[in-house]
Amino acid sequence: MQVDVGDLDSDEAKIELDRLHQLLVDADIAYYRNDDPKISDAQYDQLKQRYLAIEEKFPLLKRPDSLSEKVGAPIAEGFSKVTHLEPMLSLGNAFDENDVTDFVERARKFFKHDKDLELSFTAEPKIDGVSASLLYENGIFVQGSTRGDGFVGEDITENLKTIKDIPLELKGQGWPDRIEIRGEVYMSHDDFAELNKKAAEAGEQTYVNPRNIAAGSLRQLDANVTAKRNLKFFAYAWGLTSNEFALTQFEAVQKMGEWGFAINPLTKTCKDAKEMLAHYHKIEEQRASLGYDIDGVVYKLNRLDLQQRWGAVARAPRWAIAHKFPAEQAVTIVEDIDIQVGRTGALTPVARLKPVTVGGVVITNATLHNEDEIKRKDVRIGDSVVVQRAGDVIPQVVKVILEKRPIGSNAYDFPKTCPVCGSEAIREIDAKTGNVDVVRRCTGGLVCPAQAKEKLKHFVSRNALDIDGLGEKQIEMFFEQGLIKHAADIFTLEERDKKSLTPLRNKEGFGVKSATKLFEAINAARTPQLSRFIFALGIRHVGITNASLFAKTYGSFEQFEKVAIAASDKNSEAYQQLLAIDGIGQTVANSVVAFFHNDKNKQALDELLKHVKPQEYVANIANDSPIAGKIIVFTGTLEQITRAEAKAQAERLGAKVSSSVSAKTDMLVAGEKAGSKLRKANELGVKVLSENEWLALVD
Ligand code: IVH
Repeated sequence: MQVDVGDLDSDEAKIELDRLHQLLVDADIAYYRNDDPKISDAQYDQLKQRYLAIEEKFPLLKRPDSLSEKVGAPIAEGFSKVTHLEPMLSLGNAFDENDVTDFVERARKFFKHDKDLELSFTAEPKIDGVSASLLYENGIFVQGSTRGDGFVGEDITENLKTIKDIPLELKGQGWPDRIEIRGEVYMSHDDFAELNKKAAEAGEQTYVNPRNIAAGSLRQLDANVTAKRNLKFFAYAWGLTSNEFALTQFEAVQKMGEWGFAINPLTKTCKDAKEMLAHYHKIEEQRASLGYDIDGVVYKLNRLDLQQRWGAVARAPRWAIAHKFPAEQAVTIVEDIDIQVGRTGALTPVARLKPVTVGGVVITNATLHNEDEIKRKDVRIGDSVVVQRAGDVIPQVVKVILEKRPIGSNAYDFPKTCPVCGSEAIREIDAKTGNVDVVRRCTGGLVCPAQAKEKLKHFVSRNALDIDGLGEKQIEMFFEQGLIKHAADIFTLEERDKKSLTPLRNKEGFGVKSATKLFEAINAARTPQLSRFIFALGIRHVGITNASLFAKTYGSFEQFEKVAIAASDKNSEAYQQLLAIDGIGQTVANSVVAFFHNDKNKQALDELLKHVKPQEYVANIANDSPIAGKIIVFTGTLEQITRAEAKAQAERLGAKVSSSVSAKTDMLVAGEKAGSKLRKANELGVKVLSENEWLALVD
């Protein structure tokens, strides 16, 4: 049991403070630097509160490196440093309604001598993303950075430029010559789900939550990767500003909206705690349907002159407070741990839970991610555990309640063989890094019924052959009945059905009509698009994007197969050819080689190709366009179209847009006031086009 801070003597308090310090530093590093939180926000807040309570009761014990003076974590390597012109502060927390009334009372008390003063506050969602600071000079976005430790962050300008909610140039009027706009970068639930689906389809690790991907995406060294993530941004505050531009918080943020930023529509002004709490509950009700993660409501004193007067304590303004939502958590029992075997053989542990309601939804399963995660949390069958749901994400086991552990329980022994086919299950070692893969995989390949079945489901899925009437449920059924074991069996089904004593039309769930329709859909899939066919094969690391690259590069399946087989020798020209494809690295190339090198895959493929003739790749408009495959840079102010539109035009026509000029650049489109990029392009002899020339070209 934890001793109350009030009951600690000075020696005990010192030990406890040091312990909490270490836990909080570890948690900060995990959260801010590694984008991989190890404890929940609620747990973090509890630790921090206890830490602050000890400091308050024993001021002499306060450490020189006290965390009450700091925000965030030290900056990571790889990006240059940016000193914020005004520090990026954090927010104090309100955990219940009393804390909110206290906040309003504190404000009233502070301003009690001001006659006839009617205070008002804004209330708005607290976005669960990553904060960023954007410096605008003369209306142009010149530098963007992460929060870092609050004083110095990382320069992520190029990555932030890819976010559509962040204007490269401010619109409208009245903006200060120099201003640091502050806000939150986040990812929508839809984009998160889509990205995870793609990762799963390519047999890659999925992400835990949208916030983690947003953070990871912002730290990509290649802005093209960030651009693909479709991140979003809400502006809600500012740092340095060369002149005052509004009288109230509400007005200030509305102006940011006029300047081209996305601002949150759920922001409201309130005159007292009652209205603030009512708005809090309104936002809480909408939380699940907003389409992005929020973790509370932020209240801010509305008048900016009063904000100034009330000021800040070391790490947070006095005039604002974050009212956190209670974590959507519950306690339940792990009744069993199941191992699921995926298409690429990955063994994924799933906790089977005693049903429990979390945030209005009954949950019976929670992911345990992988072997290391079970070990780290020491989750055992029979344990009572805290589970939580965040947004649309699969429920997770947060921690075990050790006090409730049944006597005599054993640590979970992760299977070393596949629970479905009995083949050895191994953790591969990455040849490049020497790291052991977190995922244990069944080595059974197509011999493993679980893998075979999952591969079939993938084969018929939406982005693959997309066979109407043959979904996951039907594959399960045909597989269990032994009618479809391999992809080729799909195409012989009709013929076998004709001779069968128990034809499909007599089976439950099928009639003459649906059986005929199914056979028609199967026949229509005999000449699939090349990219879909390559994707359907389920080669590890080959999602739809890579499959399209191969289709485009090789034109026909025979050619792709020929190169892949010849590439088994790493010194071969064929292997170098694979690597030369823009977007294909060693991991993907090795995976392709391994696939075609495997006898069982070869056999299954030869059988399949007796029935299926993938179409040859037909270049579409993007491939015939004059700028297909070219690398284009835009610079300066475009007058007739926005930068985003120009980029979209270029990409539609098959070009790649880059943010910096180099010897590889094919073309620079220079608008008004083009500067260093234009100079560099001229130096390098890169072709330069005016805006009008560009428009003529794309028209
Ligand atoms: S205002 C000086 N408003 O929460 C006040 N912050 O826990 C600056 N956050 O560092 C912050 N939504 O990253 C503010 N609507 C909102 C917010 C918000 C999310 C984040 C921000 C801040 C953290 C504090």
